[in-house]
Amino acid sequence: MTNRTALFAVLLTAVISLSIHGCAKDDHKAEGTAGEHGEAAGVDEHTKQMVEQHEAMMGIQEDWTKARGGIEGGDAQAVLKSAEAMSEKSAAIEGFMLHKGADNREEFVKKATEFRSMIKDFNDYARNKDVKSLREMAPKIDAACNGCHQSFR
Ligand code: HEC
Repeated sequence: MTNRTALFAVLLTAVISLSIHGCAKDDHKAEGTAGEHGEAAGVDEHTKQMVEQHEAMMGIQEDWTKARGGIEGGDAQAVLKSAEAMSEKSAAIEGFMLHKGADNREEFVKKATEFRSMIKDFNDYARNKDVKSLREMAPKIDAACNGCHQSFR
């Protein structure tokens, strides 16, 4: 083998191994993303779901801030509007894709269901203009937000 042929062979091997490695890495990335969440969803589905749940939570945060303002001002009508919006946005919490605490889905679903049931009561109090019960309920809702975030956010 001449020196030049040997050099060519080394270069060729390097190029082939680089390109194989590159593909393998991409495959791993795609598989890893779907696999981590235990479903066969593609990367696009995953991104879409993450955007949706991010938007739902940001919306809930905004509504909750407004609802608390309404409670402080004794304005049950304003609370009702925000409470209804919270009900709507929390309808799909049970289906969230989890990162933290993903191996404890059962507990997450339990917390999500409890939260939605609290929001339902909260709606009822607002509808009945029961400001006293709304006031009592507010710290419990805060605790539910924080409790779930501690384990799953
Ligand atoms: C049953 C569980 C649960 C409850 C109850 C809950 N959250 Fe969340 N929240 C989450 C999870 C999970 C995330 C992370 C979502 C993600 O990364 O997609 C999150 C994220 C958020 C975020 C950050 C949004 C983001 O994606 O960056 C805000 C703000 C938020 N929650 C507000 C609230 C408020 C306010 C309440 C109560 C009124 C609340 N959450 C109740 C589970 C919950």
